Amino acid sequence: MKIILLGAPGAGKGTQAQVISEKYGIPAISTGDMIRAAVRAGTPLGKRVAALIESGALVDDDTVVSLIKERTAAEDCKNGFILDGFPRTIPQAEAYDKMGLGVDVCLEIFVPDETIVKRMGGRRVCPKCGATYHTEFKPSPKGDACGVCGEALIIRKDDSPETVSERLAVYHEQTEPLRDYYRKAGLLKTVEGQQNVEQTTALVMETLEAIRGC
Ligand code: AP5
Ligand code: MG
Repeated sequence: MKIILLGAPGAGKGTQAQVISEKYGIPAISTGDMIRAAVRAGTPLGKRVAALIESGALVDDDTVVSLIKERTAAEDCKNGFILDGFPRTIPQAEAYDKMGLGVDVCLEIFVPDETIVKRMGGRRVCPKCGATYHTEFKPSPKGDACGVCGEALIIRKDDSPETVSERLAVYHEQTEPLRDYYRKAGLLKTVEGQQNVEQTTALVMETLEAIRGC
């Protein structure tokens, strides 16, 4: 199955991508995680975009499109994948369509801005395996260490309140038009992401199972 996850920063895309990945045995591909890994590794790409992502702006379309082209060509993607945070602009969606890989569903996780601002302060992430936690809503079973791999958890640099506001503005301006893009293609499904993680997972899985059954 090829799944595009759409949603504002902090809507829970990464959290749900992890669950879907485990249930369906397909990789979750987060352009955000790939870019942050490049920044940490100090690659030329990482150096070029570090300041940009910290400010909440988007990386240029060509860069992310080539990351996706390369990643989706890997062997583990042959039975499908989950795209978390890509596409994020209409040109990215058009470039993806030109790759000819296909899309089964664009699943939007909808959460209003006020809820997102409250959520972001408590997010903790694993810099090694990418697992995501929340101090209140989804604490790690190992406290300040990752429940999956044991690495010390960190706070993302772009989770400061000012940057979160900027990311929300960028989302509404540049990414939200994708709802219409996928609605017109008959591929958009929207689930509410305001309930707790488990309730949101139930809605996500119900929607995906209905599509798989078709
Ligand atoms: P990216 O890493 O994709 O960030 P984002 O879209 O801003 O989304 P987040 O990862 O912040 O949130 P999420 O929806 O994954 O939520 P999460 O599950 O963590 O991108 C970062 C940057 O990279 C961009 O700003 C841009 O610069 C660049 N970039 C990436 N892709 C790009 C592209 N295609 N084009 C151009 N630039 C690109 O959940 C958030 C928190 O809430 C967690 O703590 C979680 O535990 C908690 N939580 C989740 N669900 C619930 C729930 N139901 N109830 C309570 N708490 C919950
Ligand atoms: Mg994420």
